[in-house]
Amino acid sequence: MATSYKELGLVNTREIFKKAMAGRYAIPAYNFNNMEQLQAIITACIETNSPVILQVSKGARKYANQILLRHMAKGALEIIEDAGSKIPVTLHLDHGDTYELAVSCIETGFSSVMIDGSAHKFEDNANLTKKVVDYAHKYDVTVEGELGVLAGIEDEVSHGESHYTHPEEVEDFVSRTGVDSLAISIGTSHGAYKFKIKPGESFPELRFDILREVEKRLPGFPIVLHGSSSVLKEYVELINKYGGELEQTAGVPEDQLRKAAQSAVCKINIDTDGRLVVTAKVREVFATNPKEFDPRKYLGPARTELIKMYKHKNEYVLGSAGKA
Ligand code: G3H
Ligand code: 13P
Ligand code: ZN
Repeated sequence: MATSYKELGLVNTREIFKKAMAGRYAIPAYNFNNMEQLQAIITACIETNSPVILQVSKGARKYANQILLRHMAKGALEIIEDAGSKIPVTLHLDHGDTYELAVSCIETGFSSVMIDGSAHKFEDNANLTKKVVDYAHKYDVTVEGELGVLAGIEDEVSHGESHYTHPEEVEDFVSRTGVDSLAISIGTSHGAYKFKIKPGESFPELRFDILREVEKRLPGFPIVLHGSSSVLKEYVELINKYGGELEQTAGVPEDQLRKAAQSAVCKINIDTDGRLVVTAKVREVFATNPKEFDPRKYLGPARTELIKMYKHKNEYVLGSAGKA
């Protein structure tokens, strides 16, 4: 039976993006697959009074089960209410790749969906995106499209090469499809291996020139940045200290994300940093207390550290703290 997101108490992205655009900040879009991640995200967002987009990939939906996910989102809203908080919460499909998946998510309570047609040619991407928009808008669900390709090494998001967005295509794409927001490619990529920086080298700048050109062509239109983890050094070091073998790597510097958040970028996607935090803390507990076998004793510290990291993002990177 179909469930409307409105019955669950979720919101679509329309109003939150309007406020983010006017207030020159970005809404955090944090991926979750399990209870501890969800608890950490909502705790951090309640404590910083930040709006939040709870993001679920196709792989996460398969992992966590769509029925359980819906109840988890409902539970999160009850916890927020119980805490006396009124932060707006969006449940969003991340990187939906088919019309059928988007429809299924809308039917099971998602308030926002991404249709990622970036692997297709412009024409096919536009047609697929429009088809999803036409269905989603009947239920007041908002849709994110994508133009340009991000390189990625995630389970389900895997393009070998990235291609920057062509600004001259964005007006046509948005007017033909009716999308509510657009993900663009300006130099970020998915996963933990974004930039190889040699000692003494500085980080490459994101292509802010492309972003500015897109803003000029689509005034006041919400833009989305994927692949926006900073690949936080302290957690990479902790992982390797306790037996991990991550290569030397770097993510998007926080000052560049802060700069992006002050522009038309209204949504910033972060998954990898959360994965690194959990892995680092679990490894630390296993290495320092090898007799431990109670999952609460290693997932608990991971959750505590996640809360700290998400609060930091809201307060100092995205600027969403205090904006709920
Ligand atoms: O951008 C992709 C997200 O990090 C989700 O990754 O497909 O491995 O769940 P996933
Ligand atoms: P990261 O891999 O940089 O965290 O990006 C996540 C993302 O874009 C989810 O859609
Ligand atoms: Zn992404």
